[in-house]
Amino acid sequence: MSLLLLLPHLIIYLLLLTVVTGEFLRPRFYSDSCPEAESIVRREMKKALIKEPRSVASVMRLQFHDCFVNGCDASVLLDDTPNMLGEKLSLSNINSLRSFEVVDDIKEALEKACPVTVSCADIVIMASRDAVALTGGPDWEVKLGRKDSLTASQQDSDDIMPSPRANATFLIDLFKRFHLSVKDMVALSGSHSIGQGRCFSVMFRLYNQSGSGKPDPALEPSYRRKLDKLCPLGGDENVTGDLDATPRLFDNQYFKDLVSGRGFLNSDQTLYTSRETREYVKMFSEDEAEFFRAFEEGMVKLGDLQSGRDGEIRFNCRVVNRKPIDVLREF
Ligand code: HEM
Repeated sequence: MSLLLLLPHLIIYLLLLTVVTGEFLRPRFYSDSCPEAESIVRREMKKALIKEPRSVASVMRLQFHDCFVNGCDASVLLDDTPNMLGEKLSLSNINSLRSFEVVDDIKEALEKACPVTVSCADIVIMASRDAVALTGGPDWEVKLGRKDSLTASQQDSDDIMPSPRANATFLIDLFKRFHLSVKDMVALSGSHSIGQGRCFSVMFRLYNQSGSGKPDPALEPSYRRKLDKLCPLGGDENVTGDLDATPRLFDNQYFKDLVSGRGFLNSDQTLYTSRETREYVKMFSEDEAEFFRAFEEGMVKLGDLQSGRDGEIRFNCRVVNRKPIDVLREF
């Protein structure tokens, strides 16, 4: 094939590549169209933190669950419709993702200040950064300019989001698919420095790790007893426990806990038991500044994930403005 024939393919490939890696996003995207956007988001997140401290962690988790499934496009925020099974009821999200009302409040405040200007996808990115900054973690500049998706897929979420049973090798491979390194993955897992998880997510490791009928041997005995009490066999699996010893503070306690066998989730503890990730856990447990730097970098990379699909700015983060039929008519 001559070079001339290949040229259109090459152009499409390059175009896709720039979209997928978030080339069109930039800091201060709303500085002219909605100069108050970032301060409004921060103000609403402060309110949420005061009203319910855990809610900011729950909002921050949305960035992970949004960006991994077809890019950061606020697909995770869409409610199901008769024609669309969205992500809210997927395996990892059902009875687990929460604090969607905080995003609704932010959107409402932004719509008052600058109607149909700031995307829900960008709200998730700004609010996640604010969750970290407001709980004592680093503060960084976010890139903005995302569009909101016109659809969502429960199946895609089921296919992609990792289970708390996952081990380090699986997680390394999964994150690699999203251009995230081993260091990025370990640092991003440090998001579990804030927030809580359900007994549902740890029952297997307390009573039947890998089908052994026994607890995970990596669990430090007194911590295991504490979890046994919180999550007894046959008990309510919606009861929640702290993901680290300081669940309202974004710090490196999470990594210190992993070193002492006090990781809540199997997917957390495996980062210390596995040789491939242990050195990063040790490093972050000893050097909080290094953890903060790596975390920021990981969050920016996570925020760069884009699907390249058509999008819009939603009026309401839970529903699309344009019906799929309108989109078809455009072609
Ligand atoms: C490395 C793979 C990961 C796995 C397997 C994982 C899994 C989980 C699970 C099972 C829970 C508890 C859910 C429940 O029991 O209802 C949880 C909570 C949480 N996750 Fe992850 N997660 C991972 C990475 C991340 C990343 C990258 C972020 C953010 C950047 C994140 C943020 C959070 C937060 C903040 C919570 C607490 C939420 C709350 O209190 O409502 N996680 N995660």
